[in-house]
Amino acid sequence: MEKKKVAIIGVTGSVGQEFVQSLNDHPWFEVTQIAASERSAGKSYIDAIRNEGGIIMWDVGGEIPEYIKSMKVKTVDELDTSQLDLIFSAVESQAAIDIETKMAAKLPVVSTSSAFRYEDDVPILIPGINDEQAELLETQKKNRNWKGFVAPLPNCTTTGLAITLKPLLEKYGAKKVMMTSMQAISGGGKSGVSAMGITDNIIPYIPKEEGKVRLETRKILGKLINGKIEDADIKISCTCTRVPVIDGHTESVFVETTKEINPQMAKETYNQSNIDSSVIGLPSAPKDYYAFHEDPTRPQPRMERTVGDGMTTTIGRVEKEELFDNGLKYMLFSHNKKMGSAKGAVLLAEMLYKKGKI
Ligand SMILES: NC(=O)c1ccc[n+]([C@@H]2O[C@H](COP(=O)([O-])OP(=O)(O)OC[C@H]3O[C@@H](n4cnc5c(N)ncnc54)[C@H](OP(=O)(O)O)[C@@H]3O)[C@@H](O)[C@H]2O)c1
Repeated sequence: MEKKKVAIIGVTGSVGQEFVQSLNDHPWFEVTQIAASERSAGKSYIDAIRNEGGIIMWDVGGEIPEYIKSMKVKTVDELDTSQLDLIFSAVESQAAIDIETKMAAKLPVVSTSSAFRYEDDVPILIPGINDEQAELLETQKKNRNWKGFVAPLPNCTTTGLAITLKPLLEKYGAKKVMMTSMQAISGGGKSGVSAMGITDNIIPYIPKEEGKVRLETRKILGKLINGKIEDADIKISCTCTRVPVIDGHTESVFVETTKEINPQMAKETYNQSNIDSSVIGLPSAPKDYYAFHEDPTRPQPRMERTVGDGMTTTIGRVEKEELFDNGLKYMLFSHNKKMGSAKGAVLLAEMLYKKGKI
């Protein structure tokens, strides 16, 4: 099988580096071109991620893959789109509006940015959760007269919440959700939070994050009806905080369900979802989509972030919630740079490829 030729835009950033790792020796996709800002363009990859002090700023676990070290970083305008089948985009949202518009006119774009997430003809996709909404990409192509499309993932804090709510919603209904996040430093990107700001500290505010979680969760858990997504009718309240953890977001969740539920029923539901998962067998999918713990000391970021290579969502501390007639409280862990961005985007591209959309 000839591999699809892909480019990574934003390749030097926090998520871009994870893309480099996630696409190393990929069976279906081959990285043939890379791009970043003018600051990095013209340099080899290794020089582009070197700081002024000469230090190589590689912050992904493991060695830098050989294939990328001497590849030349281009500007977006220098990319030869005629030699590409797919773009992975990992740039901040303001820059992404122009870049992704330009690229999607010619090619499929799988994006980690929020630039297009809230447009009516753009689904926010989590592979294994709302794959059927990918059909909206056809409407998007027609509406915009594009050869390609923009398929964004959600914000990395939405990811774990939507993943854990989906099976509960389907089986028990969901009316209200309250969530408090404890988000990793890496979620803010390479220039996000200073060491002085986060060490020995908790920052109780992340700009725009709570609004994103509310909008995105309702859209992802909604239904595609007659070419439009009808949001799920769930009231969502959340508080998003930044904590001194390098990778992986932990969230404390309270959910009011329509039907009666208890921890054992939730456990069986997640186990069944593992068996039924639509992404089983795809190259970047984990063996278990969900890990359910009865040990009350789980989830813990240091223990969970390597499970399923960061692609498994961990659930623990599950208890019946007495505040509601029916409901649960639980904690979840989701890796923001793996399932929540780069590797999740690769899994999304695999799902779209399998559906014939790439
Ligand atoms: N970090 C996470 O956990 C996470 C999770 C989910 C989604 N996201 C989203 O993913 C995107 C990337 O996040 P990040 O954390 O990787 O950010 P980052 O570390 O700040 O990296 C930004 C990347 O974009 C490049 N860039 C900036 N302006 C550009 C332009 N005009 N043209 C081309 N490239 C440009 C930068 O290149 P230079 O190095 O040359 O400046 C760098 O490669 C953001 O939209 C973010 O919201 C992040």
